[in-house]
Amino acid sequence: MHHALPPRKSSKAPPFAPRTSVLSLQRRRQLKTIGIIALAVIFVLLVLSRFFSFSVSGPIGAVIPSGTANIVLVTLFDRQVLSEQYAEWIQNNREDYAARHGYATFFANASDYLYTLDEKTPRSWLQVPAVRHAMAENPHSTYFFFLDAHAFIMNPSLALATHVLEPKLLESLMIKDHSVVPPDSVIKTFSHLTSKDVDLIITQDGEDLVPGSFIIKQGPWAKFFLDLWFDPLYRSYNFARAEKHALDHIVQWHATILAKLALIPQRVINSYSKDSPDVSADGTYHDGDFIIHLNDCNAQGRSCEEELHPYYSVWQRKISSSKSL
Ligand SMILES: *[C@@H]1O[C@H](CO)[C@@H](O)[C@H](O)[C@H]1NC(C)=O
Repeated sequence: MHHALPPRKSSKAPPFAPRTSVLSLQRRRQLKTIGIIALAVIFVLLVLSRFFSFSVSGPIGAVIPSGTANIVLVTLFDRQVLSEQYAEWIQNNREDYAARHGYATFFANASDYLYTLDEKTPRSWLQVPAVRHAMAENPHSTYFFFLDAHAFIMNPSLALATHVLEPKLLESLMIKDHSVVPPDSVIKTFSHLTSKDVDLIITQDGEDLVPGSFIIKQGPWAKFFLDLWFDPLYRSYNFARAEKHALDHIVQWHATILAKLALIPQRVINSYSKDSPDVSADGTYHDGDFIIHLNDCNAQGRSCEEELHPYYSVWQRKISSSKSL
């Protein structure tokens, strides 16, 4: 296993101290009274917390405002790194897609979350609070499709609802009993899961689970998952691939995460361009695929803008011809 936690501290308890003498009767009575009072206080607190949590979360069956999109596309922009032009291309791409299918967009800015990181921590981590933020701003939407700024929707006619989320289809896409981390991690995706169990839909490339394109369902589990992923322990651990290896790690070590995860074939939501490293066996982009992902295009010697340009042109022709129909 190549992403292990730092060794645990020994948690051995000190040996019990020998009892000195038998407690006096009076002391015992005092302890009993204190015990009863403590129990009563705990009980009252429990009742109160129940009561308040109900009133905070609003009346059951609260009305969902009309016009609420069921699906929100989330992209994080790091404007210190991306050119104005490039960011505009990506935004146009998301807006066009969302408008076609009645989805919403959420464009997060890395600068808003920078305060959560120290200087040593890679900024790629910021996609995690960005998704959390998108959920907080869209409390009535169900699905959040995070697509990083190096991925581009090439086939906008494919609606996420019918391309991935439809339960029978999702069921057929789910890769079960398969190593979570390629090529052969001991931990495998559960074979008994059905689409009803799933709150997180993700792909793997030839090396890792890929956080650059995933769908997550809003709810308490999603919040737990995102908070766990963004835990300071993982952020400061210096995983070689930052949030990517942290994800590989938590999915393998927490069955509660694996129990909600659907692994689907890479090309369904995450085809790699021919210049991308780490592609899986059938992960390379073909005409007609939903997404093209220019994985690692910000690496030295590459240019996201140059690589995207030809695809952007193809996409533009495609959408202008579909609009004139
Ligand atoms: C990010 O920045 C853009 C441009 O400055 C702005 O339009 C957008 O509302 C910002 N996003 C969020 C979530 O605040």
